[in-house]
Amino acid sequence: MFSLTLLLALSAASLAAAAPHPAHDRDRDHDHDHTAPRALSSQWFHPDNHPAHALFRRQTNSTAPTPTQFPAVGSPAWAAAYPQGTPDSNAMPQAWKDALAAAVQAGKIPTIAPSHQSSPSADPTYGSLNPNGPQVCSATYQCVIPGDTEVWNAPPGVIGISFDDGPLPTSDKLYAFLAANHVRATHFYIGENILENWKEFNAAFANGDDIAVHTWTHPYMTTLSNADVVAQLGWTLQLIYNSTGGHLAKFWRPPYGDADTRVVAIAKEVFGLTTVIWNQDTNDWSLGEAGGTNPTAIATNFKKWLTGSKSPGLIVLEHELSTGSVQAFIDAFPLMQQNNWTLRSVAALDGASASYQNAQDSPSQPNLLPLTAGGLDASLALTSSAPAATSASASASLGANAASAGVPAASASGINNQAGGKKNAARAPRAPAAALALSAAGVLIGLFCAA
Ligand SMILES: *[C@@H]1O[C@H](CO)[C@@H](O)[C@H](O)[C@H]1NC(C)=O
Ligand SMILES: *[C@@H]1O[C@H](CO)[C@@H](O)[C@H](O)[C@H]1NC(C)=O
Ligand SMILES: *[C@@H]1O[C@H](CO)[C@@H](O)[C@H](O)[C@H]1NC(C)=O
Repeated sequence: MFSLTLLLALSAASLAAAAPHPAHDRDRDHDHDHTAPRALSSQWFHPDNHPAHALFRRQTNSTAPTPTQFPAVGSPAWAAAYPQGTPDSNAMPQAWKDALAAAVQAGKIPTIAPSHQSSPSADPTYGSLNPNGPQVCSATYQCVIPGDTEVWNAPPGVIGISFDDGPLPTSDKLYAFLAANHVRATHFYIGENILENWKEFNAAFANGDDIAVHTWTHPYMTTLSNADVVAQLGWTLQLIYNSTGGHLAKFWRPPYGDADTRVVAIAKEVFGLTTVIWNQDTNDWSLGEAGGTNPTAIATNFKKWLTGSKSPGLIVLEHELSTGSVQAFIDAFPLMQQNNWTLRSVAALDGASASYQNAQDSPSQPNLLPLTAGGLDASLALTSSAPAATSASASASLGANAASAGVPAASASGINNQAGGKKNAARAPRAPAAALALSAAGVLIGLFCAA
């Protein structure tokens, strides 16, 4: 098991090598509501007819005589139904296939072909199409898609806190630090790692941290078919949902920051997910690697960012991959405080508490949808026991905050170009590791299980 964990960590590290990503919530200190569950949302944050309602509804609500039961996290029954290694999209639930087909049919998914890589860690390319043009608008090339389907920046004065690639055994120290300092973070989790490190998963959720999606096996998502994109997102959403009493994640971060108009649209249209990138990159994934960064370099960067402009706010790419990457955050934390940054979970960057699609905040109960013969819209009316939710506009608010920060897309792009340049330089020496990781988690798992 331990070997498997290490492998997954290595794989995740290689994955994390490439792209841009975002950040956390210290507001709990000032929010006296945080000790008590908030009222249920009166509606999901997306329109009531969004397919995610139907894909992740429950059969009964928690006050019903027989509420939906989920197997205990970590139990064999809990783990049984999930893919081992890369998900086979032919074998995914028919409802996901149907939702994708409906979105395609409705013209909501751009028809660009999947990207190609010349080598396992190379930036994906698009043939004759311009990756910076509006048709593709690849985040790997720091192209920002207009609208509210992507988040690159935090509001002024706010540093978004998030960590990629967990849960892992190295997460333990981080979670203890976050809890002791009342810092709420978003964890962009890899589905396979949740299966393996479910105790860490439970600890993060119990702490009130926000759980978000970092795909099932950490591929370059733009290289995948539409169906494979759905499978990578869907299984991770499903596992988080079934492991949190039905919380439906609202955010995902593409591995390597590799997303384009097609992938972003699938995430939004099929599953209601908003794509989160970042505007500064610690490169902490490469700590300890040949040619990688080092703690001094990370500290120097943090000092520059934290003592620099507060507008836009920061979304700094960080990982819970290694003791070094965890320590890099712990070391930077005092500087965040000294410079009066507001720390906020990336899933609550706009200050609203809606970190999930169907619950107002992490500890609160999700909005429980009784399944009625009349359909989901009818059932929604029954679930409302709270004042009108503010969550409906959460996604738009994030966009509005970015706009009010006075950061046009080009400006955000500039920030990321810097990060992207460093990223690419650091990634080159990692090619062998990346290749290893990309040779499919399933193969690696097979090797180690056989060993
Ligand atoms: C998720 O939980 C529901 C409710 O118990 C169950 O019907 C479903 O099979 C679970 N999904 C997986 C993939 O285990
Ligand atoms: C942080 O806020 C305190 C109290 O308002 C102020 O005294 C201090 O100068 C501020 N520090 C920075 C770096 O802005
Ligand atoms: C939950 O279900 C019960 C019985 O099925 C119903 O009476 C109740 O109104 C529901 N509660 C909510 C919040 O939907």
